[in-house]
Amino acid sequence: MINSKDRAGGIVVLTGAGISKESGLDTFRCSEGIWSRVNLEDVATPEGFRRNPDLVHQFYNDRRRGLLDAAIEPNAAHLALARLELEWPDEVFIVTQNIDDLHERAGSRSVLHMHGELRRIRCEACESEFAWDADLSVDDACPHCKRTRFLRPHVVWFGEMPIGMEQIYDALDRCALFVSIGTSGNVYPAAGFVSHVRMYTRARTVELNLEPSTGATLFAEATYGPATEVVPVFVQRLFRDGI
Ligand code: APR
Repeated sequence: MINSKDRAGGIVVLTGAGISKESGLDTFRCSEGIWSRVNLEDVATPEGFRRNPDLVHQFYNDRRRGLLDAAIEPNAAHLALARLELEWPDEVFIVTQNIDDLHERAGSRSVLHMHGELRRIRCEACESEFAWDADLSVDDACPHCKRTRFLRPHVVWFGEMPIGMEQIYDALDRCALFVSIGTSGNVYPAAGFVSHVRMYTRARTVELNLEPSTGATLFAEATYGPATEVVPVFVQRLFRDGI
């Protein structure tokens, strides 16, 4: 049996909206997904924010209030990944496209939000970034520089640079196992991570999703089904068989 200690590198887990679906949060591109109801150009681009900041604030205020709803809890998939990190400290690195905090609330510590975080905002005037759970409006003044109309959700919009790319590629270059969970594989650079791992490492590549993603054929292994079923089983197998 080869366990994680016998292999250079650790486990990089990429997650997308699908891992939070069974916690009650919407995905983007499934039927009835967020982008079937809202035009992403209006609410998820810098141009949309300049055009109509009130609409963008309302979109993220609604999602932030939804996330803070007591009914939204981490599910068995989030919890299984947190247990993996607990059992194999310093071996698991979660790169999430999600802006919810369900990985952290499940107990995961090594989490990088490459698309930002719904419960944080930043000031475009003084670049300060901080936690924010209330509704946000153009009239709110930055607590640091006191200016209004410069606060925005700390979320990466289309056309903006994702967060932590150097740290992400460093982890991908060293990993022994790359697992993609609950993402349709439609948005770069995350959609290109599996190709990067195949090109530069000998890592195992695994897709765990409800259905084959756009990049499904790039993965050496795959299990399809709801994340709350397939992720705990996968983690159990890692404990039994190692990476
Ligand atoms: N369990 C596992 N996977 C699921 C489940 C579930 N219960 N429900 C849905 N899925 C899968 C879908 O089959 C789909 O492949 O999750 C994926 C969700 O895909 P998207 O809605 O495209 O979400 P995601 O891949 O995270 O989008 C990436 O696009 O709009 C941007 O910034 C946004 O971070 C987001 C990025």
